[in-house]
Amino acid sequence: MTNRRVGIIGAGAVGATAAYTLAMKGVCKEIILFDIADGVAQGKAIDIAQATQYAPQPTILTSAKTPADVKDCDIVVITAGVPRKGDMTREDLLMINAKIIKSVTQDVMKYSPNAIIVSVSNPLDVMTYAIQKITAWESNRIIGLAGALDGSRMAYQIYKQLGYGAGQIGTLVIGDHGQNMVPLPQKVQVGDVPSTDLLDDEAFAGIIERTKNGGAEIVKYLGTSGYYGPASAIAHMVEAILNDTQTVVSCSVLLNGEYGVNNVTVGVPVVLGKNGVEKIIQMTLDPKTQKKFQDSVDSIQESIEILNNNGFFD
Ligand code: APR
Repeated sequence: MTNRRVGIIGAGAVGATAAYTLAMKGVCKEIILFDIADGVAQGKAIDIAQATQYAPQPTILTSAKTPADVKDCDIVVITAGVPRKGDMTREDLLMINAKIIKSVTQDVMKYSPNAIIVSVSNPLDVMTYAIQKITAWESNRIIGLAGALDGSRMAYQIYKQLGYGAGQIGTLVIGDHGQNMVPLPQKVQVGDVPSTDLLDDEAFAGIIERTKNGGAEIVKYLGTSGYYGPASAIAHMVEAILNDTQTVVSCSVLLNGEYGVNNVTVGVPVVLGKNGVEKIIQMTLDPKTQKKFQDSVDSIQESIEILNNNGFFD
């Protein structure tokens, strides 16, 4: 990718921190921020642009006044959305964010027609599905942030349990980016040692539970969800695409028969490179794990049905 131009729509906590993380890695030539709230993208872009003075590589940071200015991007990261407020039901939130995603996606189609989209807004899997259906682009170009983040949360929990191996712990979480996610700590290695030689079933059960609640634990302390972790996972994915690294990472992607699933976006391991999803990795799951994965798929399907029943795709 010659332009290495990345658009970030939604310059809130996650979007701006992703821009900062990418700038500190020096993997983009240009990052352009857009936010519907007046001044937010402008202010954050200036601050991050000044921070790049001490980055290892130069990155141009700009802000867009209108969606039309986020043009000709190689990758567009979508983090736009609203958080759930007191009196909103899950369904209310789903419909509000889906409408935001629809308008943002239509702009991306107009102004960055060749982009790969990294979808971040929640509820993640169903928003990724919405983007997939609205664009009708090849499914390798629509990639949801799920397992990259949940996997980093799982690795953190394994490290906390063991007390060693930081930075050497594999990550593998499949399924939805929510309460039905399927962390698979038993399948990863610490260094080159299988985790099954290091941890017992009780320890794995605790790691799985704490991984699922990894986001909620941060909310408990801060009152808002985390953003360094999501930003780091976004940067990992963007870097893999821009540098064509063919990196294996779990992402929410449209399945067409893989894992026995059709027409649902859900987290599975994929290979990321210059075309986005280069390959979906088909693992063999034992019957118990396959059942958990299917329950997770069903929960996403229920949310997709809510969009259907509200005429979202009409
Ligand atoms: N176009 C552009 N930006 C928008 C739009 C829109 N149509 N609608 C909302 N936004 C912006 C908001 O103004 C806000 O600055 O999206 C930003 C969202 O930022 P935050 O509220 O700080 O939320 P954040 O923590 O960054 O999370 C963003 O990522 O991880 C997910 O669950 C999270 O869906 C949420 C998203």
